[in-house]
Amino acid sequence: MLDRLTPRLERSVSDLAAKTAARVGRTRHDRSDGLPPGPGAPGPLQLFSFLYQPVAFLRASRATHGEVMTIRLPGLQPIVQISKPEHVEELFKGPARQLHAGEANSVLEPFLGSHSVLVIDDDAHLEQRRLLLPPFRGERMKAYGDTMRDATVEVLGSLAADRVVVTQELTQRITLEVILRTVFGLERRGKDDELVELLVATLRSLDDPKLLMTAFQHDLGPLSPWGRFLGRRARVRELLEQVIRQRRAQGGEGREDVLSLLVGATHADGEPMSDAEIRDELMTMLVAGHETTATALSWALYRIARHAPVRERLLAEIDAAFPDGAVDPARIHTLEYLDGVAKESLRVHPVIPGVGRVLKKPRRVAGFDLPAEVVVGCSIWLAHHDPDTWPDPHRFDPERFVGTRISPYRFFPFGGGVRRCIGEAFALYEMRVVLATWLTRWVPELVPGRHYATKRRNLTLSPTGGMPLRFRRRAA
Ligand code: HEM
Repeated sequence: MLDRLTPRLERSVSDLAAKTAARVGRTRHDRSDGLPPGPGAPGPLQLFSFLYQPVAFLRASRATHGEVMTIRLPGLQPIVQISKPEHVEELFKGPARQLHAGEANSVLEPFLGSHSVLVIDDDAHLEQRRLLLPPFRGERMKAYGDTMRDATVEVLGSLAADRVVVTQELTQRITLEVILRTVFGLERRGKDDELVELLVATLRSLDDPKLLMTAFQHDLGPLSPWGRFLGRRARVRELLEQVIRQRRAQGGEGREDVLSLLVGATHADGEPMSDAEIRDELMTMLVAGHETTATALSWALYRIARHAPVRERLLAEIDAAFPDGAVDPARIHTLEYLDGVAKESLRVHPVIPGVGRVLKKPRRVAGFDLPAEVVVGCSIWLAHHDPDTWPDPHRFDPERFVGTRISPYRFFPFGGGVRRCIGEAFALYEMRVVLATWLTRWVPELVPGRHYATKRRNLTLSPTGGMPLRFRRRAA
């Protein structure tokens, strides 16, 4: 909703929500159900703060209730929130059969399909993961670098100097092109157009937070939001299955896209993946990999615009590596400071605020004996801003990542354990290739007087107003 407001009105609503969130976070409730204490404000008020001012709400709740707290939102199981490295380690190393992530992600099932690796657990989950991982490993994944660079050059071809642009629109166009080409093996031309338009429209349905709540998922005909979504979903599924059948008929020979590799993948019993499995995994990669990476890029560009010393050092590194301005993705791993900028940006602005696990058995977590069916939420945002782990946590300093390995229980923008993001290496590679290509041509600048803040946009923590920035053309 805030997307459609003018910047001024958006700022007022956001300020009001921030004040409410800070108050709501500081309210106190100790219930007799044995769960750790947490904010005690009425459910709808907590939900409003949680949705519209997630960062203010988390900060205030953490300040009042400490490192383990319970958040209670209407219509959902209580969420016991943890963020200390030792507690995160306990959770990520715990037995997957007793800690269901798929169940915690179940709101996504109507959008992704019941076979999606994100919404299933136990053996079925491990099996889908085994099938999906190979295209995202090492050399295989590196084959996508040229596509990442070329998509960036194409999209930035329309950029005009010194105009305020909504950066998120550009980053989303880039990451969408990258996923369509590398994962689906599609070109936005001719017969693929209807599928591409429908995929984009289906993605946009996720922007409406109401549609993620079962209370609003009623089919009242094709004019109702849910009815419209179901109609679109049926057509997308039909078209995707057509593409899968065609790819099977052609054979994946000579193709490097993820779909062609999945068509040739076999289950442990030798059976190929079914059309429905491949279809649901394609939707999963689109939803999980497109907006997340775009948002991460927008935040990184914001930080590069904001911190002159970081910008100068980064530009010097990129210019030294690619003096003729032609980015070679095969050499991107040599740019250590660029890697630090991408990671520090994901630390300060984690795109996904947290990950959840549903307890399938009573379990002691972070010193509390919790009953089965409670959701344990691992707050990425709180962990990344913990002053015990990150001195001066709000300071942006890419040096924190240069020449060191950081514990996966202190820095985990991609989650952890057996559920750790499949696209992590792909996303970090894409961030570096896109940023290097961008910065060889254009330098980002903040727009004076603009308000830069964080809001929740479906599953992500996104910049308000889509990150308005100006870009200065670099001398040839
Ligand atoms: C900056 C970009 C990205 C971020 C921040 C991100 C973050 C995450 C997070 C937090 C999870 C949940 C992990 C957990 O529960 O512990 C996840 C899971 C997943 N992500 Fe990503 N992701 C990104 C990009 C991608 C890309 C590019 C793809 C694929 C093309 C992808 C595919 C997946 C899949 C398939 C899962 C489910 C893994 C499982 O349940 O076993 N992600 N991601």
